[in-house]
Amino acid sequence: MSEIKTIGVLTSGGDSPGMNAAIRAIVRAGIANGLQVKGICRGYAGLLGSEIIDLDSRSVSGIQSRGGTILYTARCKEFYKAEGIDRGVQVLRENGIDGLVVIGGDGSFRGAQEIAARGINTIGIPGTIDLDIACTEYTIGFDTAVNTAMDAIDKITDTSMSHERCSIIEVMGRNAGFIALWCQIANGADGILIPEAEKFDERDLIDTILSNRQKGKKHHIIINAEGVGSSMRLARRVEAATGIETRATILGHIQRGGSPTAKDRVYASTMGAYSVDLLCSGATNRVIAYRNGHFTDLDIDEALAMKKTIDEYQFLVSQMIGQY
Ligand code: F6P
Repeated sequence: MSEIKTIGVLTSGGDSPGMNAAIRAIVRAGIANGLQVKGICRGYAGLLGSEIIDLDSRSVSGIQSRGGTILYTARCKEFYKAEGIDRGVQVLRENGIDGLVVIGGDGSFRGAQEIAARGINTIGIPGTIDLDIACTEYTIGFDTAVNTAMDAIDKITDTSMSHERCSIIEVMGRNAGFIALWCQIANGADGILIPEAEKFDERDLIDTILSNRQKGKKHHIIINAEGVGSSMRLARRVEAATGIETRATILGHIQRGGSPTAKDRVYASTMGAYSVDLLCSGATNRVIAYRNGHFTDLDIDEALAMKKTIDEYQFLVSQMIGQY
C-alpha cells in the first residue's frame, strides 16, 4: 500500500505538445490507484502563489489531443533560490500534497531535486521540444515539433523553388541542434548550422550552394538552429556572396503548438502513468527516461550530470546526403 494519498502535477518551462496527454494519464492513473490528484497552475510560479486546483477524471477528458498545457506554464526565477523552494514545499504541505510530478526540462528538474531533498517525493518527466535532456532519447513534444517544422519547411521549399531562391530557415532548440538535424534529413536541405558542430565555415556553406547551383539545383534550403546566430544577417551575407536571392524565415513558436502526434500522445501517456507507479512504490528524486527502446527511470542527480551530444553517424548522414 502506498503511503502517498495526494499527488500534485505541474508543467514548467516551455510548453510542449503532449504535456496534456501526460497530465491526463497522471490524473487517471492516480485515481485508479486511489489517490487524490491536484493540478498546480503556472509551474513553480503558481506553486508559490498557491494556484492549486482539484483534478478529476472528467476534468482531463479529451485533452490528449490538445497542444499546450491545461495547467499553464512559466519560468520562475524565485525557484532558483532556497527561500523560494522552502516556500514551495510549505505550500505543498499546506495542500496535503505528498507526491509531486514535474513535467519540464533540466531547469525544472533542478527544482524537483530540491523539493525531493526537502522530503516531498518527486518525479520528473522530460517535456521539451528541444530533445536536450541527456538521460533520455525521447522528450515530450520533440516528435510533434519536428513534424511541424518539416511541414513548414516543405511549404517554404515550394516557393523557394518557384523563385529559384535560397532560403535560410531558423528552427528552435535553444542551445541544441536536434530539430535542425532531423529537418535537414527529413527536408533534404543543402546544409545546417547547429551549435554542436565544432566549427562552422561559412565559406564551405557558400561553396556548397554555388556548387549545387552549378550542378543545376534551382533552390537551396539552409536550416539554422536558433542557438547559432541571426538568420537575417546570414541571409544577407549568403545573398552577397552567391548572388542568389536569399530570404530568411524564423519558424518560431509555431513549433511549440499544435495537436500532438500519436507518438507524443502515447509516450507522454506512458510516462505519466509510470510516474504514478513510481510515487506509489515510494520512489523519489527520479526522472523518467526512454532508453534503448524501453521506459526506465534514473536518479535526478545522475540524470542532471549527464551530457548529450548529437549522434555522430546521423550528422554524417545529414552532411553526405545534403550534397547535390
Ligand atoms: O525550450 C523550448 C524553447 O521553445 C526553445 O526552443 C526556445 O529557445 C525557447 O523555448 C523559447 O522560449 P520562450 O517561449 O520563453 O521565448
